[in-house]
Amino acid sequence: MKVLISSAFFLGLVALGSTHLCLVFPQQRGNVTGLDAAAAPDCYRVTGPCGGMDTAGHVRTVFQEGDMVSITYQKNAGHWVAATPGYFAISLIKLSNHGGTLSAPQELKRREDKNEPNLTIFSDAVQLPAGVHGHHIIQVTYVTNNPAAPAVFYQCADVTINTRTGGGVVG
Ligand SMILES: *[C@@H]1O[C@H](CO)[C@@H](O)[C@H](O)[C@H]1NC(C)=O
Ligand SMILES: *[C@@H]1O[C@H](CO)[C@@H](O)[C@H](O)[C@H]1NC(C)=O
Repeated sequence: MKVLISSAFFLGLVALGSTHLCLVFPQQRGNVTGLDAAAAPDCYRVTGPCGGMDTAGHVRTVFQEGDMVSITYQKNAGHWVAATPGYFAISLIKLSNHGGTLSAPQELKRREDKNEPNLTIFSDAVQLPAGVHGHHIIQVTYVTNNPAAPAVFYQCADVTINTRTGGGVVG
């Protein structure tokens, strides 16, 4: 009997629906509005690699190779499932041919979804690899592992990584 009740409870939770993810810093492509309320449309992007915002965007942020940088993102709306908790991942993607070609994402950090409330902001420090420079994407994904929600949420931010000697080039 106890088992039946828990299953019903579990199914009820799963049926609630969608998750949302926003990338605050560096700022995601497109707009980033509505962060004060769960389920903001700008935080609902569910096709890879950039949630449909797949045209190389405006570079707003400049980093240096090898630096520790703080990436800030918001679990705008979450649906954690106890049996299969999901995770957030921060990855680096290199653009070449003026953004026409993207390298495979290089994962820099992963954080488990621990059922934090909606609108929780995370800031995770990641170390940029040495020897990479030029136009890159900081990609944050929210892998839900929740059968009732989209599998993965995507956000991308355009950044330039300069060489340590200061000879960095945009592009
Ligand atoms: C961003 O917001 C402005 C003003 O509401 C709107 O005109 C524009 O289309 C939006 N851009 C995107 C990519 O959603
Ligand atoms: C989180 O937001 C979603 C979408 O608005 C909502 O369905 C859900 O109940 C919220 N969860 C909590 C714990 O408030």
